[in-house]
Parts: sequence; C-alpha cells; structure tokens
Amino acid sequence: MGERPYILLSCGMSIDGYINGATDERLLLSNEADFDRVDDVRASCDAILVGAETVRRDNPRLMVRSSARRAARLARGDRPSPIKVTVTEGGHLDADAAFFRTGDMEKLVYCASSTVDKAREWLGGHATVVDGGQPVDLHRLTEDLHERGVCRLMVEGGGSIHTQFLAAHLVDELHLAVAPFFVGDSRARRFVDDAHFPWNPGRRATLAEVRQVGDVVLLRYALSPRFDAC
Ligand SMILES: NC(=O)c1ccc[n+]([C@@H]2O[C@H](COP(=O)([O-])OP(=O)(O)OC[C@H]3O[C@@H](n4cnc5c(N)ncnc54)[C@H](OP(=O)(O)O)[C@@H]3O)[C@@H](O)[C@H]2O)c1
Repeated sequence: MGERPYILLSCGMSIDGYINGATDERLLLSNEADFDRVDDVRASCDAILVGAETVRRDNPRLMVRSSARRAARLARGDRPSPIKVTVTEGGHLDADAAFFRTGDMEKLVYCASSTVDKAREWLGGHATVVDGGQPVDLHRLTEDLHERGVCRLMVEGGGSIHTQFLAAHLVDELHLAVAPFFVGDSRARRFVDDAHFPWNPGRRATLAEVRQVGDVVLLRYALSPRFDAC
C-alpha cells in the first residue's frame, strides 16, 4: 500500500446531527469566529476535498480567506490557498462553478472511469480529471494525492464523503463544530449515512479536545495513531 496524506475531516452540524437544512438555501451552522477557525485549518493544509454534490449545491470557493494566512503560505513557498479536489461518478460538474473559477491553484477531479472522457469534455482546461476507478476508490485517491505532494488533506463534506472516508478508516483527525440549534427535519442531510464505522460502543474514539468558540462547540477526535496534537 502506498503512503497517504494526514487526513483531517471537518464538519459543522446542528445539535441533532444535520449538516444542512431541508431547503435549497444553504444553512449557516458556524459563527464568524468558527469560520475563522476553519480558515486557519484550511491554511494549514495542502489540499481540500469535497464531494461533487457539495460543489453543485453549495458552490463553495474553498479558498483561504485571511490575507495574513495567504501571505504566510506564500512566505513558506506555498500557493496562497490549498489545491481543490472533488470526486464524481456521473461527471456532471459545471466549469463555471466557483470551485473551478476561483484561485489559480490546481483543481483535481477524481472521476469514475466510465465518465472520465465526458468530464474532460465538460470541464475543458479548468481542471485535471483523474481516472479514479469504478466507483472512485478513495484509498487509491489518497495515495495519488500523496504522490502529487499532498501531505495534509482536509475533507470538508458532504455526508456521502464523510461516510466513506470514516468507514474506510482513512481519517486521522475529526473536527465537529456543533451549532446551538436543531434542524428537526429528516429530509435534511445528516453528518453520515448508515455504514459500518470503526468506532462503536466496544471501540470508542479518543476525544482529544473540547473548545468553545462563541456559541459553537468544537469537538476534536483523534481517530488514528497518526493524530497530531498540535
Ligand atoms: N455542514 C458542513 O460542514 C457541510 C460541508 C459540506 C457539505 N455539506 C452539505 O452536504 C450536502 C451534500 O452532501 P451529499 O452527501 O449529498 O453529497 P457529497 O458528499 O457532497 O457528494 C456526493 C457526490 O460525490 C460523488 N461521489 C461520492 N463518493 C464517490 C465515489 N466513491 N466515487 C465516485 N463519486 C463519488 C458523487 O457525485 P456525482 O453525483 O457527481 O456522481 C456523489 O453524488 C449539502 O447539503 C451540503 O450543504 C455540509
């Protein structure tokens, strides 16, 4: 097996475990201070990965917001923001999405083998489309990222991606930011789907830190022996 990056999965959720509302409108779970904390984590990573549905629904830019953090990255020889990575089976991604249009860093699309050609046609020169297998094999994906120089990867959703990374035991560190309200609508997206996770009542995860960030609480879990306490 090849080497993989250190993988940190970061997610905001409601008290009842939802990561978005039930409508098309994006639900803001974090407060300003917590967005800034997430920005700091982003700035410490070489790449940020989200699923294709998050690219389509949320249209995220996935850039480091703070100019001081961008300058610090430049000073140590990095690009101002991490490279962006997404995963798709159907390949239906809009080249005009903010994911592709913002920042001059590399954008990588790991695509199922059957749709690689179509995805290359749709995305033109806006991204590097990589054949990731059928469906995309996340172990292979992480090893490929490592070969491309990614030592620290931040996984930022959505629920399908959380489920697969956690169930495959690929995550070294988990950040859950719990917002102080309920969504209370089972049509909304939950943190994870049903799956067989490595942590269960007989094998509890290690809680490494609890931090209050205004009205949000950050729960930080160490999920592998590689956990980096800094
Ligand atoms: N609160 C938070 O921190 C947070 C963060 C991010 C997102 N979200 C929310 O999460 C929701 C989206 O979550 P989601 O679970 O619906 O979608 P998702 O995890 O963002 O993306 C799922 C899509 O990724 C592709 N994919 C996933 N695994 C794959 C594999 N192994 N091989 C090939 N393709 C694969 C497929 O794309 P194709 O359909 O293109 O084939 C799949 O439909 C949104 O409501 C968003 O707002 C919340």
